Amino acid sequence: MSESPSRPEPFKAPVGTHDVLPPESSRWQALIARFADRVGRAGYGLVQSPMFEEIGVFSRVGEGTDVVRKEMYDFLDKGERHLALRPEGTASVARAFVQHRPTTPWKVWYAAPSFRYERPQAGRYRQHHQLGVEALGSADPDLDVEVIALLWDFYAALGLRQIELVINSMGTAEDRRAHVDRIRLWLGDRIDQLDPADAAKVADHPMRVLDSKRPVTIAAIVDAPRITDSLSPEAVAHFDRVRAGLDALGIPYRVEPRLVRGLDYYTHTTFEFISHALDAAQSTIGGGGRYDGLVESLGGPPTPGIGFGTGIERVLLTCEAEGVFPAPAAAIDLYVVDTTGGDAARDIAVDLHRHGFRVERAYDARSMKSQMKTADRSGARIALIIGSDELAAGIVTVRPLREDQPQRTVAREHLVAELRTLLSDPLPSPSEDHP
Ligand code: HAM
Repeated sequence: MSESPSRPEPFKAPVGTHDVLPPESSRWQALIARFADRVGRAGYGLVQSPMFEEIGVFSRVGEGTDVVRKEMYDFLDKGERHLALRPEGTASVARAFVQHRPTTPWKVWYAAPSFRYERPQAGRYRQHHQLGVEALGSADPDLDVEVIALLWDFYAALGLRQIELVINSMGTAEDRRAHVDRIRLWLGDRIDQLDPADAAKVADHPMRVLDSKRPVTIAAIVDAPRITDSLSPEAVAHFDRVRAGLDALGIPYRVEPRLVRGLDYYTHTTFEFISHALDAAQSTIGGGGRYDGLVESLGGPPTPGIGFGTGIERVLLTCEAEGVFPAPAAAIDLYVVDTTGGDAARDIAVDLHRHGFRVERAYDARSMKSQMKTADRSGARIALIIGSDELAAGIVTVRPLREDQPQRTVAREHLVAELRTLLSDPLPSPSEDHP
């Protein structure tokens, strides 16, 4: 067929975004299912919140951060509302909490896209996807331990071994404020030793300077005051209890007083999981912490909270780098090959779906040879063949594709029972699966 001269240039997914197609998407499905199972066992329920919010939901919680100041996808909608695509999950969940006032502790999880206008590279995207939990309404340090243990166990169950947990305490809101003032003064005395881009941040956002990746600045701040040296007794007690909990559960960690997370709302415990199998630029595969003032800053009652987010893309990159958590095997057990026009394939395939079997079939009345080739490639264990002889006799030829076993014929009315025995999988009964 000749191509039409007016055919338009094909579109591509926008820069920094990507499609996830089968079979890779089966790893996503399996990852999300495992996460849901692990956090579900600890009492977390799924929360679905809008992909966009009024811009204030995000700007109020992160005015000093790149995520909010530079990277937000914000826009005016047709009603002149100033909205933003969610750059992260926590602020949306806190907004939902303030709106609905559920009973506490409120424990929720999400698997949600997040949008940041970053410079794309491997492991850094403009649309990425986070698995996360948030627990609101308890200041108990044992909840911090539970939340950290959830993520630790999740990674461990995937088979990841080259993961390091790094923790810090930002102290109470007052400790944090006092520390920010101390850092501002300290940096102010050394402003000409900083990279000019960082020097410009000292007055308004001094904590961001501690996060700098610029070598000149990194050298200048080696001796900057550490928040862990000036925590209030309350914050020290909280942090001690968290560490004791991690020790008791056998979860190894490193205390890193320089850990400054990229969002402003943290108090007390903060943590990151670093993969030593990935390049430094995207080696943080998960992070989180306490945010005891966030709900209040969004207009709710004083409510402590803690949670984490872990990027699906980065977790899967880490799995590839460590050679663990491969894509699950093909999900098809049976393949229907029908050379009699397609009525039999249509009826048998749907009937078997209704009985809980995983069944594929060929379309477009293709030849026997072509259908058998597709059956082989599909990963199915068994081909169900209907030619004119089978059709006339009301039978089906059952041909094992993976095992070295002879083929045989089965009467159509006995097919379901026969296949159950052959596959000997615990399959749901039709009453559970039938629409
Ligand atoms: P975050 O550290 O900004 O924290 O992001 C959490 C995780 O999302 C990162 O560790 C990383 O795996 C992934 N991630 C972030 N940005 C990108 C990107 N551009 N491309 C690919 N992956 C990315 C938060 O978002 C907080 N809401 C976490 C939290 C929950 N804190 C308390 N509760």
